[in-house]
Order: sequence, then structure tokens, then C-alpha cells
Amino acid sequence: MAIEWTEELATGVTIIDDQHKELFRRINALLEACSRGKGKEEIARVIQFLEDYVISHFSEEEERMQQSSYPAYAEHKAQHEEFKRNFAEVKQLFETNGPAVFVVIKTNHVVIDWLKAHIKRIDRAFGAFLQAAGPAGAQKA
Ligand SMILES: [Fe+2]
Repeated sequence: MAIEWTEELATGVTIIDDQHKELFRRINALLEACSRGKGKEEIARVIQFLEDYVISHFSEEEERMQQSSYPAYAEHKAQHEEFKRNFAEVKQLFETNGPAVFVVIKTNHVVIDWLKAHIKRIDRAFGAFLQAAGPAGAQKA
């Protein structure tokens, strides 16, 4: 049930790919804490860790988009905002219910499926844009 980073998720921008891999590691830490039946407190700690990482990762991507005058910035940022709202909802469910099965299923759907789809389509488009901007553009990222 772990989320796995594969080449088809590569944006071609090393720092973004590295952050995605780290993000996946943190999601897996959450899933593992759930499957080991960790208590609410431990789960809350892992979730907070993940939320902080998501927020700083999104900000970094958004900064790079602004620096490179990326034309699809608004659409991309709107997706990040949508994810943050969904994540807040999942966090709330964990706080109320602990790692109940339906909460883990919802996490799989709104966190894992969403992220994979976002990276494949939206982040990869940005990666391609940066690479088309030449080595200077990609390097800045
Ligand atoms: Fe993104």
C-alpha cells in the first residue's frame, strides 16, 4: 500500500524530484504508523511533519514558477490550494477518529492518488517548461 516514486513521475528537475521522493517517504511513514496501529498522538506528529513538508514544498515550486514567469502559475497554485484543503480535512479525520480504516482509505484517495496525478500532469508540465527554458532555467530550479 506504500506510495512509490517511479520514473514516470520524473519532472526532470532534480530538486523537485528529490522533494517529491522525500514527500513520498513521509507519506509512507504515515501509512506505516497507521498499519502498526500507532496511537493518535504519534499519528498527529507524523501528520504535522507531512503537512509542514507539503507546505514548504508547494511554496518552493510556486516561487520557482514566479521566478520563471510560468504562464500556468495560477492554475498550478490553485491545485496546491485544493490539496491543502483536502489535507486539512484528512488531518481533522485523523484527529477525530485515529487511524481508522476509512480514514486510511480516504488518505489513499485524496493524498496519494491526487499527488500522483498532480505530479504526472501538472508538475511534469512545469518541469518541461523549465527545461525548455534551457540549462539556466532548469539550474535555477
Ligand atoms: Fe505542484
